[in-house]
Amino acid sequence: MPLTLQSPAKINLSLEILDKRPDGYHNLDSFFLPVSLFDTLVFEEAPELSLRISPESTIPVEKIGTDNDNLILRAARILQRRHAPHAGAKITLSKHIPIGGGLGGGSSNCATTFHALNRLWDLDLSRETLEAYAAELGSDTPAFVQGGAVRMTGRGEILRPAFPDCPENRESIPPLWVVLLNCGEHCSTKEVYKHYIKELTPRPDFYYTVAHFASSGAVSQLAENLFNSLQKGVYARYPRVETSARLLKEAGAEGVLLSGSGATVFGLVRDQAHGQTVCGRLPTEMWKAVARAIYCPMV
Ligand code: C5P
Repeated sequence: MPLTLQSPAKINLSLEILDKRPDGYHNLDSFFLPVSLFDTLVFEEAPELSLRISPESTIPVEKIGTDNDNLILRAARILQRRHAPHAGAKITLSKHIPIGGGLGGGSSNCATTFHALNRLWDLDLSRETLEAYAAELGSDTPAFVQGGAVRMTGRGEILRPAFPDCPENRESIPPLWVVLLNCGEHCSTKEVYKHYIKELTPRPDFYYTVAHFASSGAVSQLAENLFNSLQKGVYARYPRVETSARLLKEAGAEGVLLSGSGATVFGLVRDQAHGQTVCGRLPTEMWKAVARAIYCPMV
């Protein structure tokens, strides 16, 4: 039986850089939040490992390699090498999350692959083991393995659920809707971290502030407290990204922030209908989507 899984995008309601580490990475404190924009991955038993990009993909896929660099195949090879040397899988990816856009699509696909092959190959590995493997392949990947809203610290690998009562309390957290806007600029994550502009007056509690307002559904207060340490540097280096943020604000979004290391920006909206109205006012040539926060793990 083929296994079909949805692989979500993410935004960061807060992303604070604390300091630079001896290994060249940065210590972060971030509210990492998956949203309902999905790639779809289909996994089928097969003698060999292979990856195919589906023609159903809705964004240009020329930039996706199906070779050894691809995070889906790298995740699969880690599991194959360590736990299932004779297993294979035919993997099909339908891509809908913009590539290299700060929405974590590649990391999410990687995490979904760990979960899927753990099931397809009956490996029975714990989520903690999958998170540790995922950390070998990127800073955002463990958070996607955990799933749901998380507080992310360290390089990105120290995780705590933002709402520990999920999924029991799923209904008690008010929905949060966002509009995502991508102007097509390519921002290299490495470069963005290298050129980030330190805030002179750091405030210590971004995570707690956004977690508080998100959990109570206070969209206007949340809008005033969104924060991303990388934003200033990205807007300075990539003026088109700053322009897209301004357009999103002018279109009626309540608070606008750079997503991760960009180039996508997101804006908070009151509900889905408001999100669609905002989208309707944005330039037709720019990629955009309305999405809902996914607070609790999907698997
Ligand atoms: O880990 P990942 O491949 O997602 O990171 C891409 C680049 O972003 C790294 O090579 C590093 O330059 C930068 N980065 C960082 N600190 C982090 C995460 C990423 O400096 N916590």
